[in-house]
Amino acid sequence: MSEEKNGKLEEQQQQQWPELKLPELLYTDTIRKLHEVIESDWDYLRRSACQMAAGRALWKHVIHDPLAELLAGETCLRSFHEKIRKDQCNDAKEVSGVMLAVRTLWFDAKIEAAIESFGGGEAQVVLLGAGMDARAYRLPCLKETAVFEVDFPEVLQMKTTTVQAATASKNNVRMTAKSLKRVAADITDNNWLQKLQTSGFVPEKNTVWVLEGLLYYLSHSHAMEVLKIIAENCTVTQTVLLADFMNKPSTTLSSTMYHFHSDWPDHLLPSLGFSDVNLSQIGDPDAHFGLLHDPLNLFNKLRSLPRSLQTLPDDGTPCCRLYLVQASGSPIKPQEETM
Ligand SMILES: C[S@@+](CC[C@H](N)C(=O)[O-])C[C@H]1O[C@@H](n2cnc3c(N)ncnc32)[C@H](O)[C@@H]1O
Repeated sequence: MSEEKNGKLEEQQQQQWPELKLPELLYTDTIRKLHEVIESDWDYLRRSACQMAAGRALWKHVIHDPLAELLAGETCLRSFHEKIRKDQCNDAKEVSGVMLAVRTLWFDAKIEAAIESFGGGEAQVVLLGAGMDARAYRLPCLKETAVFEVDFPEVLQMKTTTVQAATASKNNVRMTAKSLKRVAADITDNNWLQKLQTSGFVPEKNTVWVLEGLLYYLSHSHAMEVLKIIAENCTVTQTVLLADFMNKPSTTLSSTMYHFHSDWPDHLLPSLGFSDVNLSQIGDPDAHFGLLHDPLNLFNKLRSLPRSLQTLPDDGTPCCRLYLVQASGSPIKPQEETM
C-alpha cells in the first residue's frame, strides 16, 4: 500500500475509533455499582449482552445507539476498544466488531421491512434474548409497534435502571417505540410464551420475532423448541422470523458457550413449517453496508466457497459462518430436522 493511501486509512480509522472518551454518567454511583455486580456475579451468558452493547457503542459511526455505552459498562468498552486497536496495529482485514455491526444493521433493516410488509395496523416485535438491545429507543419505524423484550430478570432489571438514569439526565434518550414491555423469563422454561401473553403479547397481531445472538447459546433441544413455538404462532397471524445461526464449525470457537448450530437453516426452517426463507451471509449484498471493502477479508473468502465445506482449503481452519436468516408464513406440517 502506498504511504499516502496508508496515511489516509489511518486517518479514517482514527476518526472512526478515536481515543475512548467515556460518558460521565458511567461513573455515577448507580451505574458504577450496577456494572460492579455484573462483573462479579453474572455468568458469560448474561455478560454477553454487555459485550454486544460495547460493540454497538464502538461502531457508533454506523450505529446510532444512545444507550450502548451505559449498557456496556467501562470494562467491556475498554476491552473491546483494545481489540480494535490491536486489529488496527496489525492491519487486520476485518476489524473486531464488524460482524456485529453488519448483523445489527441487517436486523434493523429487516425489522423495518417486515413492519412495512404488514401494511399498517398494529404490529408487535418480540426481542427474544433482548439483552441490552435498545431498538425501542433508536428505531423510528417502531412508532406504531408494541415491543416486548424477553430475557433473564437480572438482565432486564439492570437495563431498566440504566435506561431510567439515562432518560433522567440525557435529553437525547427517548422511546421511539409505541410501547415497551420487559418480560423476565428463562426461554428454556416452558412458560415463557405464557409470560409474554400475560404482559400483553397478542398471538393474533402481526409479529416480528427477533432472535439476534441467541440460538447458539441454547442446547439443540431448547433452540428447536423455541423455533417450533414461533412456527406454531405462524398459524394464527402474519409472522416474520429474523434469526442468526452459527454453522457447526463456528461452535468450535467455544465449546462451553456455543451449542446449537445448523449448517442448513434454510432447510431446517421449512421443515418446521416456515416459508419464504431467505439466507444471507456476512458480506452479501444485503449484509454488507459498505463495511467489508477488502475482497480478501474472511467473510468474502467464505462466501466464495461452498457452504458444505467445513475447513478452509488453504490452511485447514474451520469455516466459521454466521447465517442471517429471515423466514415467514403459515406452517402446515411441522417435522423434525433430519439433517
Ligand atoms: C449475545 S446476547 C444478545 C443480546 C441482544 N439480542 C443483542 O443482540 O444485543 C444473548 C442474550 O440472550 C440472553 N439469553 C440467553 N439464554 C437465555 C435464556 N435461556 N432465557 C432468557 N434469555 C437468555 C442472555 O441473557 C443475553 O442477554
